[in-house]
Amino acid sequence: MAILGAVSAYATIIVGGIVRGVPGAGTICPDWPLCNGSIVPNLADARILIEYVHRLVAALTGFFMLSTLVAAMLWFRPEMRIVTLSIMSFAILVTQVAVGALTIASDNDWVVVTIHLALGTATLASALIVALVSLWPAKF
Ligand code: HEM
Repeated sequence: MAILGAVSAYATIIVGGIVRGVPGAGTICPDWPLCNGSIVPNLADARILIEYVHRLVAALTGFFMLSTLVAAMLWFRPEMRIVTLSIMSFAILVTQVAVGALTIASDNDWVVVTIHLALGTATLASALIVALVSLWPAKF
């Protein structure tokens, strides 16, 4: 689950970069969490499709990272490194999603987008650390 979280975080960054690179894609959905007032918007416009895929992959990342946290708390409690790092990692992700919403509310203000980029990197880094620590737990 931790590995899926890291892979999915990486995919979210790739799609986020595409949103950034395609003119108008970052502001094509002016609302959040809905897009143009719909859970599933009209995807005929490629810019809406790209922005929507970014949100979907971000949601998937959230699912994997929350599942990692739940699994760590239920079944790996003696491994305090995994539990603590999963909590920190999920906290970074929640902040990142909030800043993602703020990129919409601020009409892609460059300061907010730059923070979003930096936190995206932090999300991937923390997810990778959780995955690596889970793969190689401490020996007692
Ligand atoms: C796992 C969560 C997320 C990650 C890792 C992530 C990552 C990224 C990255 C790396 C970029 C490119 C930034 C740049 O090149 O300057 C980006 C762009 C963007 N993200 Fe996210 N993102 C996440 C969640 C969200 C969410 C939940 C939203 C809310 C709708 C969102 C909205 C946006 C928008 C609108 C842009 C384009 C900004 C622009 O065009 O200037 N992101 N994201």
